[in-house]
Amino acid sequence: MRGRNRRARVKLLELLGWLRAVSADLAHLAGPRGSFCRVQACLRPVIATAARVDAELSRRTASMKNKRTSLVHLIYFSRLTISNEPALRAKQIGDITRQAQKKNEFAVITSFLIIDQNFAIQVVEGERQSVNETFQRIAADSRHRDVQIVEWREIAKREFVSSFTTVSRTAANEPHFAKSGLLPMLQRGTPKGSAIHGLAVTLQAESMAKQGIDHLFV
Ligand SMILES: Cc1cc2nc3c(=O)[nH]c(=O)nc-3n(C[C@H](O)[C@H](O)[C@H](O)COP(=O)(O)O)c2cc1C
Repeated sequence: MRGRNRRARVKLLELLGWLRAVSADLAHLAGPRGSFCRVQACLRPVIATAARVDAELSRRTASMKNKRTSLVHLIYFSRLTISNEPALRAKQIGDITRQAQKKNEFAVITSFLIIDQNFAIQVVEGERQSVNETFQRIAADSRHRDVQIVEWREIAKREFVSSFTTVSRTAANEPHFAKSGLLPMLQRGTPKGSAIHGLAVTLQAESMAKQGIDHLFV
């Protein structure tokens, strides 16, 4: 669509240039009255219409460009500093979840947090400024350390459906974690954005299938 808009604008601008040149020639040739002058008067609304169409095309192209570039995702990983004692750990993750859900809903952020051993890996998506502000808060949190950005880029659409979902590695989802090969990458300190993204999308699909809502997403 953007390509078609651009090509249409080029043609339109050519036509506008040509019409203006003809009009200027006629003005040059014509006296104050006479047939050239009438032709020039007829051209005036055509030029005005072409200019309006060009302005509309330009506005649409700019708005599509804005839509395309304002949505971003940020992927980071870190090392959790929370307890390893199961009950306390569950409570601490619950606290993070409550805070994050509330803030993310307000900021229209969608996200997916994977916890593998003591690694936290999160995909955060939303409007550029909201993602940046959210990440600044996350990075300053003492419940994890060594926060490192893996990927920050513009995205065409969101991939995650909820404001904040956490999935930890368990015996049930172990095959997905193993297949992604993420843990060795995290241990080396070089996780790939594509591996994180792929695992998060798979875990989300599985979680939604369990809730019987996978048919809502095609
Ligand atoms: C691993 C991890 C992930 C988090 N994810 C989010 C998140 O997605 N959104 C969010 O607002 N806060 C998140 N938080 C919590 C923030 O770090 C912060 O505590 C919270 O936003 C409240 O910030 P405030 O006390 O400055 O208001 C996360 C914290 C941790 C440790």
